Amino acid sequence: MSRGRFITFEGGEGAGKSTQARLLAEVLRERGHEVVLTREPGGSPGGERIRALVVSGDAADWSAMTETLLMFAARDDHLNAVIRPALAAGKWVVCDRFSDSTRAYQGAAGGVDPAFVESLDSAVVGADQPDLTLIFDLPAERGLSRALARGAAETRFEGKGGAFHDRLAEAFRTIAAAHPDRCRLIDADGDVETVAARVRAAVETAGL
Ligand code: TMP
Repeated sequence: MSRGRFITFEGGEGAGKSTQARLLAEVLRERGHEVVLTREPGGSPGGERIRALVVSGDAADWSAMTETLLMFAARDDHLNAVIRPALAAGKWVVCDRFSDSTRAYQGAAGGVDPAFVESLDSAVVGADQPDLTLIFDLPAERGLSRALARGAAETRFEGKGGAFHDRLAEAFRTIAAAHPDRCRLIDADGDVETVAARVRAAVETAGL
């Protein structure tokens, strides 16, 4: 049994990632792959319990360091319970957010030492890095107004202010530039089908 493929979706708030992750999962299933569509923080029963702590409440409830530790705690559980067993069984894993979100939200925008984030990533994720990461790029204020218009209950990160979200958008662009083998920047400005076509093209170009 050959190992499955691991694709992550990343970006700021309201960029349409979750819809596009679902659409890509459907396309991959049509191609005959078994696909696990999952998300972070969360994706496993334990991970979802940690998610409930971290995505609701006030922006000031947790420091960026506490968030970092909670994100990697949730990630460890998710990897062990869901991602690693799926990849080992030859399934494809499509994950809505992964370690680049910690690099951008808690590291670049939140002020946690990037070297500390990398050391946690090495310890927790190790060799199980994504094969491909699609980074959704949209001006921060556009995405934020889309996310707030959704009126979701999980608004803790949306409440962190415009400057935080500008730093975030820049951080994701920097991550994409620093990891050109793994990451593709997706222009998220467009209707659902236009962006879906960009996603499919990126997956094909990556040779997956
Ligand atoms: P979502 O809105 O895409 O479901 O993600 C939930 C929130 O969690 C989102 O505001 C981004 C945030 N987040 C981090 O801050 N760091 C992380 O490592 C992850 C995975 C998510």
